Amino acid sequence: MFKALRPRQNATNQFIHPFTQLADVEDDGPNVIVSGKGVTVTDRDGRELLDGFAGLWCVNIGYGRSELIEAAQQQMSKLPYASSFFGFANEPALQLAEELVRLTPESLQHVFFTLGGSDAIDTTLKTIRYFFNITGRPDKKHVIGLERGYHGVSSTGAGLTGLSGCHRFFDLPLPNQHHIPSHYRYRSSYGVTDAAIISGSVAALETKVAELGGSEKVAAFFCEPVQGSGGVIVPPDGWLAAMRIACAKLNILFVIDEVITGFGRTGQLFACDWEHVEPDLMTIAKGLTSGYSPMGAVLMSDEIYRALVDKVPRELPFANGFTYTGHPVSAAVALACLEIYERERLPENSKVVGAHLLKGLDALREHRWIGDVRGKGLLAAVELVANQESREPFDPRLNVGQLVRKKAYENGLIVRAFSDNVIGLAPPLIVGEADIDRMLDRLARAIHSAEAELHEI
Ligand SMILES: Cc1ncc(COP(=O)(O)O)c(C=O)c1O
Repeated sequence: MFKALRPRQNATNQFIHPFTQLADVEDDGPNVIVSGKGVTVTDRDGRELLDGFAGLWCVNIGYGRSELIEAAQQQMSKLPYASSFFGFANEPALQLAEELVRLTPESLQHVFFTLGGSDAIDTTLKTIRYFFNITGRPDKKHVIGLERGYHGVSSTGAGLTGLSGCHRFFDLPLPNQHHIPSHYRYRSSYGVTDAAIISGSVAALETKVAELGGSEKVAAFFCEPVQGSGGVIVPPDGWLAAMRIACAKLNILFVIDEVITGFGRTGQLFACDWEHVEPDLMTIAKGLTSGYSPMGAVLMSDEIYRALVDKVPRELPFANGFTYTGHPVSAAVALACLEIYERERLPENSKVVGAHLLKGLDALREHRWIGDVRGKGLLAAVELVANQESREPFDPRLNVGQLVRKKAYENGLIVRAFSDNVIGLAPPLIVGEADIDRMLDRLARAIHSAEAELHEI
């Protein structure tokens, strides 16, 4: 059929893996997952693994859900694609926008669909810039995030991300992107009490805004309600609400990135619901479709949306959007997914089973490597250290976190290893306590066998 076919090479380097030491994959080959059911996936060698990370903290409803498969199939048969440009629309996308406005905080009244989290953040950054330009405030250009924050990898969002690995060699962050220290209690910049962390964070934001020339120069503050890729860092109760109030006082926009925490992960439908926080903008993705089909979104306040309607030049519409904005198949999948969250009360399950997970992780503290245990709902982590007492980290060259991750895989468990030897767990929200116990048992075995291997070296 195709001319000039070359022979297949069976190489391990044609597919480029994200966030991967590519040399390792060339040597070892990839871990190929071929199927999944509930909280278990199976790899190409037939090994069954408990998925302690819900894919990439997204498969909240678990694998193999017929409701989503049918929703996708029906929508594909009826209408596989429709543009959202130039005033066109499709029914599932309109219905999904309505549902999302119903379910998210009242401050959010309008939805712009994307394909995932990075382009939701990118769209947010562009929308903010556009909003201040068309409302006569073109000097409001600086944006502030948290160190250890993660806001995806678009060429704008990766600079807002507060992880040096996402900056180095990419010429990031951009000159208008700034960071204040995280609320990271275990290695705190602010002190260890809740009050000190909250007042320290507020003061750091105020100082940063002042340094940048005041509110006339600063557009927005971005944060995750629980920092995910920075190592599952949970702020003290009251932190999110305090930062929201601080932003209002400073006259800058408050943006919440709920890409991980949205849709029940922390035990409420959205993590900002814990403190009844009303952001100006919110990004979502992952759990929106449970990863069954790519989709993300930006939700925004009526004030921002009205500017897009009323202040835009007649001859020049809001020129932003993607071929797949409001994709009907993804929207149909998302609607089926939302029904499952509600029907199966998955946020509640996350709260109850998450407490069990945290208790189990706490019990692992007997092992001398466990320095910190933290989490909220089914979003949890342990930080491995060389010395529990002094909190001294391991020599990074030992790659202890990656070793534990590999040992977990060999023991039938998928976890994620973050930098600083943090091991993260974020299983599907359908998980029960018995499966959590099996995960904890496998993790404990992985840590012991990593320790044994290190001692052999
Ligand atoms: C908080 C947060 N924001 C944004 C993103 C980027 O989302 P995506 O990978 O879908 O582009 C992620 C991805 O993990 C995330 O955790």
